[in-house]
Amino acid sequence: MSTDIDPGLFREALGHYPTGVAVVTAVLDDGTPAGMVVGTFSSVSLDPPLVAFFPMKGSSSFAILRTAKNFCINVLASDQEPLCRKLATGGSAKFDGVGWRPAPMGSPILDGAVTWIECTFEETREAGDHYIVLGRVQEFALERSTLPLLFFQGGYGRFSPGSFVAAGPDPELIQAAQFAQTIRSEVERLSTEFGVNCSVLARVRWDAVQVLAANNSPHAEPFPLGHRQPLVPPFGAIFLADAGESDVDEWMRRAPDNTPERRALNQAVLDKVKERGYSLLTVRPEVMQQHDALLAAFEESERLPRHERAVRQATSDLTEHFTPDLEPGQLYDIATLVVLLPAMPGLPPMALRMTGLPQDAPADEVESWIGALKSVAATVSA
Ligand SMILES: Cc1cc2nc3c(=O)[nH]c(=O)nc-3n(C[C@H](O)[C@H](O)[C@H](O)COP(=O)(O)O)c2cc1C
Repeated sequence: MSTDIDPGLFREALGHYPTGVAVVTAVLDDGTPAGMVVGTFSSVSLDPPLVAFFPMKGSSSFAILRTAKNFCINVLASDQEPLCRKLATGGSAKFDGVGWRPAPMGSPILDGAVTWIECTFEETREAGDHYIVLGRVQEFALERSTLPLLFFQGGYGRFSPGSFVAAGPDPELIQAAQFAQTIRSEVERLSTEFGVNCSVLARVRWDAVQVLAANNSPHAEPFPLGHRQPLVPPFGAIFLADAGESDVDEWMRRAPDNTPERRALNQAVLDKVKERGYSLLTVRPEVMQQHDALLAAFEESERLPRHERAVRQATSDLTEHFTPDLEPGQLYDIATLVVLLPAMPGLPPMALRMTGLPQDAPADEVESWIGALKSVAATVSA
């Protein structure tokens, strides 16, 4: 080393920075595939479109790769760790049994890769004991929108979202589910009496989790028990009736934007819900179905950030339909109606919800549903 940097410490410090994992592939003149695993793949420029990776000068795999006319970057998915381990070895047999197809210029696209980017060699320059290889992007495609494989401190892993709480067992949730059983007969009665889907929700951090449901509506139950609805404004206002400033602020920051205008809208929602003791959403079933589809995609994608953004935006877009004034003689399509249960020691905040309600309901019928939910909530405190 040219300075007195300790190589071990240098690796250790820089090992605290995570990377993705990509395989650079190429087809050689004799038609055989070649490749190497890199953690140093990076996007560089959009105009012109350039990407880069940094192979070791001593890498025998790169010495072979660079003889090809072009190469392909394959971003590995989180379920491709075995493939990564196989290809990270030296030697020519590493492609045995590996599924691939040729990209437009012929470089291998590995089966199961998240994204592939086929490039021509733009420039290869020396940088200490590595090369910097710049590739000019010729073709690319997103093959599989799924979690990428990550590499960190010598180990493999996957991304887990920080802003939206990942699903998982929670002691509060078990308590809430046990409590819900004690009001099961009341929930079933409401469901039968009004021909609706009546459920019990518990707030666990920033999710409303369904812990009990009785469905006597003509519609199929949209979500299973344990389903989590992320609390993005206006959703969750009901749980914040007695919340402190910092809790309210955190809730507001879950909206797609935190502008003064958006905050004012969300504060108005909160004030209305607090004053009335219920929240309701007046949208046609088609709108709710679209929203539920986004939510399902979010869950199925293992809560990927881009699906999270779609859910945030779609939920925020419902604000204008949230808890409007009920005018006598008007008809309403109520998608959800929620009343808070009184706070109970040792339990998370909980609420009663009706969905699957008849469409075009007159205001006084809506009032009767609200009244029925409130009276059950009142017996809980008794
Ligand atoms: C997760 C991971 C990331 C790697 N990143 C790089 C890299 O960016 N540059 C590099 O030269 N080698 C990298 N390697 C090492 C090569 O993939 C490969 O193991 C090594 O080049 C094999 O030796 P050979 O090239 O002499 O055949 C990485 C290996 C792993 C497992």
